[in-house]
Amino acid sequence: MQALKDKIRKHGKVGKGDVLKVDSFLNHQIDIALYQKMGQEFARRFAGKPINKILTIEASGIGIACIAAQYFGNVPVVFAKKNRTSNVTGDVYTAEIASYTHGKVYTVSVAKAYLNENDHILIIDDFLANGKTIQGMNAIIEFAGATLEGVGIAIEKGFQPGGRDLRKAGIHLESLAIVDGMDTETGEVFFRE
Ligand code: G4P
Repeated sequence: MQALKDKIRKHGKVGKGDVLKVDSFLNHQIDIALYQKMGQEFARRFAGKPINKILTIEASGIGIACIAAQYFGNVPVVFAKKNRTSNVTGDVYTAEIASYTHGKVYTVSVAKAYLNENDHILIIDDFLANGKTIQGMNAIIEFAGATLEGVGIAIEKGFQPGGRDLRKAGIHLESLAIVDGMDTETGEVFFRE
């Protein structure tokens, strides 16, 4: 998606450890017009799929998912909650996620009341790196007996294995910008295509 790539080129900051900082428009301060364009683009790419719910994860996925939902007929957005390791109570589906970026394992949960076998789910998130977060959310979808219709990502780090693994598994993955490399010296970002 050209508008997102342009924004990354202009305002993204290449940090240490292959981290792309996009705080000024994506996951701290939010550019609403850009989120709207992203939502429209997700709707175009997943057109014709019987999506009745969007699943995301706190924190940065929530805003993207909520604006996107408006282009899917205002379907509800459910977000997985993090860090309930020691005191998971009630009727929830849980999955363990090992975060490479954060170097820790955390538990995510979704209340059983908000996911069921009639649901056709689109997962939305801001970044795809190693794919563990998406795998965890997909596990929760499977526990619920729901159907995964696809995964929509704002920025995929194409040099990490998450995207490749999801595509290999036959999952319909759409990433609006795929970063294949970054130069820490010059701050340049290289996109696929
Ligand atoms: P994975 O989920 O694909 O396996 O990736 P990983 O564990 O490595 O990263 C997960 C977290 O790190 C996510 O944030 C993701 O947004 C963030 N992340 C990964 N690479 C980058 C990057 O290059 N730039 C930025 N800005 N973030 C990156 P999270 O734990 O979901 O936190 P939150 O920000 O949504 O609260």
